[in-house]
Amino acid sequence: MQITTTLTSSPTDDARLAEILENPGFGTHFTDHMFTVEWTPTDGWHDARITPYGPLTLDPAAAVLHYAQEIFEGMKAYRHDDGSVWMFRPEANAERMVRSCDRLALPELPADDFVQAVAALVEVDQRFVPSNSGAGEKSLYLRPFMFASEKFLGVRPAEHVTFMVIASPAGAYFKGGAKPVSLWLTEEYTRAGRGGMGAAKTGGNYASSLVAQREAYAHGCDQVVFLDGQEGKYVEELGGMNMYFVFDDGSIVTPETGTILEGITRSSIIELAGKMGHHVTERKFAIDEWRDGVASGRITEVFACGTAAVVTPVGALRTKDGDVPAPASTDLTMRIREALVDVQFGRADDTFGWMKRVV
Ligand SMILES: Cc1ncc(COP(=O)(O)O)c(C=O)c1O
Repeated sequence: MQITTTLTSSPTDDARLAEILENPGFGTHFTDHMFTVEWTPTDGWHDARITPYGPLTLDPAAAVLHYAQEIFEGMKAYRHDDGSVWMFRPEANAERMVRSCDRLALPELPADDFVQAVAALVEVDQRFVPSNSGAGEKSLYLRPFMFASEKFLGVRPAEHVTFMVIASPAGAYFKGGAKPVSLWLTEEYTRAGRGGMGAAKTGGNYASSLVAQREAYAHGCDQVVFLDGQEGKYVEELGGMNMYFVFDDGSIVTPETGTILEGITRSSIIELAGKMGHHVTERKFAIDEWRDGVASGRITEVFACGTAAVVTPVGALRTKDGDVPAPASTDLTMRIREALVDVQFGRADDTFGWMKRVV
């Protein structure tokens, strides 16, 4: 892919950048540039460019605004102590985006082009990758996304599609130690059904989760747990994270794929925990098994995982029938977290070959 680059004439000045990187928060500050490439059936992917970050001009009839033909990815770039900048398994995000493209009837963006696009933006905006001294966990969050930009109100796959990448410095998820997430079990709303879009990373899944997320807040909880759409019996995932259950014999269970988002963190943990000597199973996991397992002590830890938090202990589960308390231990949870974060920030050997150097 041939990328043309037009640099901004008004880069963020050093003092302002230092202020942003000191306390980046999440998703509010953006870098100086963005990547764009367009697709049409006749020209394929064309006109790849990096330009100054700024608002889009979009026709009010653009199909994405009406039929939500849209997908996205979420990943990070990490600065190591020697100043180099790395991405974690970008090909895995590229491949997941191809699967999302297929489900949303969007044109496939080749995995190599995806990785090239993301790396090119990180390179141009490398000043925005925060440095981490010691145990710091700041990063540059990367948001690739693709949408139906055709001006057309008919309901069919769009014939003009735009793929973009934007980037936003991100602070450490846990400031001052890991705080367990509290969960609300929604038994009214589901995020996915058989044949639906649950395995795709598409905006519609998040739109449909918001009312349940609002319910979680109203019950004083951080996140919402979704059950399967068919029987309302099996744990699927949180609004934005996958789940893991640790048993007293050291074995680990995570809900099977199909209607959940197949997290890159989730699949990395399957490999990592396996190497640490734990037997990991992907299977259906009933909500009753959670309740009974915590009560009997068979379940010793529950944790959630995703790009933002990496791994976080799960606290109490609140349900309409009462609370399921948090298991007492977070020992393995924190060891898995440590092991992953150490690879991402270059503090441990990358024995799986997960890291890709950008700068
Ligand atoms: C619904 C959902 N499940 C799981 C995940 C975890 O995926 P990953 O580990 O690739 O970040 C995410 C998010 O990022 C998500 O939005």
